[in-house]
Amino acid sequence: MTHFLDIHKTPAADLRGIIDNAADMKAKRAGLPKGTPDEDQPLANHMVALIFEKPSTRTRISFDVGVRQMGGQTMVLSGKDMQLGHGETIADTARVLSRYVDLIMIRTFEEQTLLEMAEYASVPVINGLTDRTHPCQIMADVLTFEEHNGPIKGKKVVWSGDGNNVFASFAHAAKQFEFDLTFTGPETLQPEAALDGLYTTERDPMKAVEGADLVVTDTWVSMHDPQSARERRHNQLRGYQVNKPLMDNAKPDALFMHCLPAHRDDEATSEVMDGPNSVIWDEAENRLHAQKAIMRYCLGK
Ligand code: CP
Ligand code: NVA
Repeated sequence: MTHFLDIHKTPAADLRGIIDNAADMKAKRAGLPKGTPDEDQPLANHMVALIFEKPSTRTRISFDVGVRQMGGQTMVLSGKDMQLGHGETIADTARVLSRYVDLIMIRTFEEQTLLEMAEYASVPVINGLTDRTHPCQIMADVLTFEEHNGPIKGKKVVWSGDGNNVFASFAHAAKQFEFDLTFTGPETLQPEAALDGLYTTERDPMKAVEGADLVVTDTWVSMHDPQSARERRHNQLRGYQVNKPLMDNAKPDALFMHCLPAHRDDEATSEVMDGPNSVIWDEAENRLHAQKAIMRYCLGK
């Protein structure tokens, strides 16, 4: 069974294959109306379940559109409307779903939910974000970087802000795609210890971005963070906002990325988000292409 659970759990050569396949599929349908079926239909006769225990715009729509372009059918399910949200075990849910669908994508809170789903499902499971990681996002980010600035290998990526789930997948990707990753943020929001050794830390954001090829940030308060922590987090993170002076200290052709949704003028200014170095809309589009390649990989198509 080929699941896509995390970037460090998929061999580096397979990750490279997914990125190349995504770029290829994207090129083939350039300029076509979004609903045009792909020339080949690898997901014909396939049913895909998309389960969401948290809100989503990009993940929900890009997976749904991607499956349809490849000839498959989707079912978008809210975790709370399923028995899953009312006491049925994840293992039993996984066994039952495997009798109806060919592929499961799940966005959930606890990583354990994803892992149990994968353990008990007899169809591939894809991680659509957990409290700990967001691997599909970073596959799209690697694709986006390479489209604009060439191979990511050996490049310098700087993350400014909260050491959260999206950062964690960047850290896994740094090892697999062989780029340098620097974290700049407060000590209190340092990434989890399991990621030690995959990145370096520089507390001073101005110093951190020197020589950067890519500057990335994300929301200061994630979906799994208690709203009560909002003000404290804002106070801790204000100095790590990605603004023009910070971007000016990176390489002139440095890209700016944000997985979105953004809180404009908190973690990044509108000037940067809408500025010449920003590739956030390509990044959002590339969720579609990257995930299509991930689904093909999981299904061996
Ligand atoms: N970036 C991302 O995963 O966005 P959604 O929460 O809208 O899916
Ligand atoms: N870190 C954010 C990412 C959203 C796509 C969250 O988990 O809410």
